[in-house]
Amino acid sequence: MKCKITNEEIKPFMSFGKMPPANGFLEKKDFKNETFYDMEVGFSEKISLFQLNKFSNPKIIHSVNYPFYTASSEYMKTHFKKYADWVQKEYLKSHSKLIEVGSNDGTFLKNFTKTNIDYLGFEPSKTVANQATKNNVKTINAFFNDTNIQNLKKFHNKTDVICAANVIAHIPDLKNLIHTIEKLLSLKGVFIFEEPYLGSMFSKTSYDQIYDEHIFMFSITSVKKIFDLFDFELIDVLWQKTHGGSMRYVVGRKNKHKINDRVHEEIIKEKNRKLDDIISCLEFKKNCEISKTKAMKSLKKIKNDGKKICGYAATAKSTTVLNYCNLNTDTIDFICDSTKEKIGKFSPGAHIPIVPVSHFHKNLPDVAYLFAWNHKDEIFSKEKEFLKKGGSWFSHVSLQK
Ligand code: TMP
Repeated sequence: MKCKITNEEIKPFMSFGKMPPANGFLEKKDFKNETFYDMEVGFSEKISLFQLNKFSNPKIIHSVNYPFYTASSEYMKTHFKKYADWVQKEYLKSHSKLIEVGSNDGTFLKNFTKTNIDYLGFEPSKTVANQATKNNVKTINAFFNDTNIQNLKKFHNKTDVICAANVIAHIPDLKNLIHTIEKLLSLKGVFIFEEPYLGSMFSKTSYDQIYDEHIFMFSITSVKKIFDLFDFELIDVLWQKTHGGSMRYVVGRKNKHKINDRVHEEIIKEKNRKLDDIISCLEFKKNCEISKTKAMKSLKKIKNDGKKICGYAATAKSTTVLNYCNLNTDTIDFICDSTKEKIGKFSPGAHIPIVPVSHFHKNLPDVAYLFAWNHKDEIFSKEKEFLKKGGSWFSHVSLQK
């Protein structure tokens, strides 16, 4: 495999086996046409970048019916409100220009609709972009790349902030992304993005962060090294609770900003943890194998005790868990989810039926595998009855505080 940034040859250090596209929820009639790829991961030692070998074409993933809406989580709505307030306070003036890459249903940009900020969202998936438009959020239904910004002359060299959240790891051509940012940003403008953090994935063994859409898993060191290759530098980092541990990165043109001391301090911490070294990846690989064996054994025991198991939330992450741990309807009866595009379909690869959350309430199992472990606080607080009636939660990731 080749590093997607440096082009150097790298050897995959782990395979998770055959995987279908993580959001490829499908109907029964399409089972026979389902596609799989070998989900392998590698690590570029030059730029300390954890990355997938093969991945799905974003044009196919973000076709008409991309089944993910940011607003499906109350917690994420609050997070994006705080993110917007922070961006406004730190980096925007009253009439600044702002662009969001992968603006989804407009949850983040909605916070600017009543201001004088000249904002714009780019969202390639039609259904989600339509939802943003319904929310009165100015949205271009297209990928963010140098071709699609050509006619937006008023934003060229004048954009104060380009934002993204849980999007940049989905973009295979990071060079084109950086080139596009370079055209748009004002001299002192900043590019701010949040992504699940490699350090959190390693410490939680949350290997389900890896799927065809997450092409990269960033660390602070890798982000610094990537932008150092261009006319940009990493100027600040802020840890976030979202997605089980994420990092917010702030990047600006070289020598135009003071670099926050946090950046140096955190890079030293990463070095001490060997996050810049393949050693930490090999440790992670071992932990994934232990986690798989443990989960399969525990679920088998629960089943052998005659108990019923269901899944809670048909996340993209669940596709990795189910297929890596060889779980199907022999173990998990159904997965409930609140997303209308997923209900009535079957989970990719494992073919477990996706049902509405009301079905879960009417057919409480003994054990629910919480696939949306990153939303546990929100889900636990609305599903208190489940515990009261004797149910229990299960996950490969610790559900303790
Ligand atoms: P995510 O982990 O990628 O954010 O995906 C969240 C999925 O979980 C999405 O399909 C919606 C679903 N979900 C529920 O069904 N109920 C909930 O309470 C929450 C927070 C999410």
